[in-house]
Amino acid sequence: MTTTGKQLFTTLESDGTLTVEIEESTFPDPTGNQVLVKMEAAPINPSDLAILTGAADFENADYSRGKVVAKMPEPFNSGQKARHGKRLPAGNEGAGTVVATGDGDMAKALDGKRVACVPGSAYAEYAIADASMCLPLGDHSAEEGASSFVNPMTALGFAENAKMDGQKAILHTVGASNLGLMLNRICQEDGIALVNIVRKDEQVKILKDAGAEWVVNSSDDDFMDQLRKAIDATDAFYGFDPIGGGQMVDHCFKAMEQVAVSKMTEYSRYGSNQQKRMFIYGRLDFSPTTLTPSYGFGWTLSGWLLTPFLQNAGMETVGRMRKRVLDNLTTTFASSYKTKVGLEEMLTKEAILDYRQMKTGEKYLVTPNG
Ligand SMILES: NC(=O)c1ccc[n+]([C@@H]2O[C@H](COP(=O)([O-])OP(=O)(O)OC[C@H]3O[C@@H](n4cnc5c(N)ncnc54)[C@H](OP(=O)(O)O)[C@@H]3O)[C@@H](O)[C@H]2O)c1
Repeated sequence: MTTTGKQLFTTLESDGTLTVEIEESTFPDPTGNQVLVKMEAAPINPSDLAILTGAADFENADYSRGKVVAKMPEPFNSGQKARHGKRLPAGNEGAGTVVATGDGDMAKALDGKRVACVPGSAYAEYAIADASMCLPLGDHSAEEGASSFVNPMTALGFAENAKMDGQKAILHTVGASNLGLMLNRICQEDGIALVNIVRKDEQVKILKDAGAEWVVNSSDDDFMDQLRKAIDATDAFYGFDPIGGGQMVDHCFKAMEQVAVSKMTEYSRYGSNQQKRMFIYGRLDFSPTTLTPSYGFGWTLSGWLLTPFLQNAGMETVGRMRKRVLDNLTTTFASSYKTKVGLEEMLTKEAILDYRQMKTGEKYLVTPNG
């Protein structure tokens, strides 16, 4: 059986020409524990935008039906040398119905079922997915299940990681994102104190309305004061940051150290003994990360990525996390979307300029067979 259908591809050439287009593709028959999924819904997440749009100039791009050609500026073009000339599929996750399976038992058990999946090629009418990564959605719609992996497992991963590290509080620097709102609900359920940083008054309201106790606005003149108070009250010396560029991590370490120093009974020229930890897990800001170490010596900054976390967490933990996501898909782990677009519609100027801004509450959902 040969299956054909539309699929999105993104190609960056060495001269910085980025072409994103919808093409007719042939999808192979699934083998072993693979399944062929007829895709119904797939979100456009920031991690998808990294290869869909990146830093390219879409204001002055060349648009035609189902195709856009844009220029990637330096140093972003050279920085992606490894993908030059490669025609890449896109769309990390999505949901749809299994229409064919390999002969593996895990795959056969999914035949005809609606599943959430992580094919890496979800912007397509069909996608080959690994059965072990599929989540049977039962009565849930594809829209409800489309974002059931990347953000839910990451937000849960933060809570799991904090517990493994003996932490009772978490600081999160983009509180009102889709992921941030999930983390807010998880922390309330699990009794973990959460300090949310946001950058707009309306985002303070979103979080307060969602029951958040600690919300700090980085645009306020007394931001550092607010942050110190929240850290002091919660002992949040452990934080996650998706901004990456600029000074947010620096601000967090500074506030943590100032709180720790204020509690010292004796002066030390080396600062406090308080361990302070921040993880950068995104790059919403492409500018360099600025650190001005003035926070004693007990600070650690590292990256955080879902896949290695899951590999290290072990089968039992991952199984428990996936069950919690499925059991609470429309509550704790619900995602919301601004609008739905078809495959060709997602490559119009209007759509790209809108979704690449990654604004709060304005995520797009692609409906490839819609
Ligand atoms: N490491 C991992 O394994 C992993 C896994 C999942 C997600 N992520 C990352 O998690 C982040 C959030 O994803 P999401 O799907 O929840 O995002 P989302 O719902 O699309 O929201 C993006 C949020 O980021 C804010 N934002 C955008 N640019 C910003 C900047 N320069 N400084 C401060 N805030 C900024 C937006 O606020 P405004 O409205 O104010 O612009 C909005 O609240 C992304 O960076 C994503 O790559 C990482």
